[in-house]
Amino acid sequence: MARDEARHAGFLNKAMGDFKLSLDLATVTKTRTYTFFPIEWVIYTVYLSEKIGYWRYIIIYRHLEKHPENQFYPIFRYFESWCQDENRHGDIFKVLLRSQPQLWNNWKARLWSRFFLLSVFATHTMTVHERAGFYHSLGLNATEFDRQVVYETNETAGRAFPVKLNTEHPQFFPRLHRCSDYNMKLLKIDRSSGPIVVKLVRKLPWITAIVWNLLLLYLIKPIDTEALRGTVR
Ligand SMILES: [Fe+2]
Repeated sequence: MARDEARHAGFLNKAMGDFKLSLDLATVTKTRTYTFFPIEWVIYTVYLSEKIGYWRYIIIYRHLEKHPENQFYPIFRYFESWCQDENRHGDIFKVLLRSQPQLWNNWKARLWSRFFLLSVFATHTMTVHERAGFYHSLGLNATEFDRQVVYETNETAGRAFPVKLNTEHPQFFPRLHRCSDYNMKLLKIDRSSGPIVVKLVRKLPWITAIVWNLLLLYLIKPIDTEALRGTVR
């Protein structure tokens, strides 16, 4: 896994050179503040980030296969093998997760799974819409791309996690999109001029609205994947 990630970083580093950008990894390693998480959180989140990465890359790759005219940079050609790497990394973490029954066979695990699924999906929806222009240049619709990635990642995660989210609930995507719309308002306020305190006061109602919608999303009844597996407990 470390070898694959180093190769990916090498590709990105080379690509950044084309845009006259560089990243001093030695400095980053020294100056970055490190946050330590409980190992359970690391397993849930790395699993999800690898699987969501897989779906992001494969959807872009398959789209560009059909629309080669939108392939504006050579790095997209490597997305197929790249996404298979991410898929394998996800599988390693799935095995780790399933080998520790306390990570999936109790109510705490079910609540954490819901929390991490929603956090990853909400972050994805917001960041994809922040960069809608990038997806547009690939010939993709940001909203549709995001919907597909969230749907597929949730289905895949159901094979490792004790629950998956109910993405087919009529309020699921509308509420996620509302969070993303409010997030765009926050960005606009950030970019405007004015004292920080005034900006904060203007931001507060939108932040509250995002938190409220996320809470309602969290409360949507999830789907019990252990029951779907028909495991005898
Ligand atoms: Fe990876």
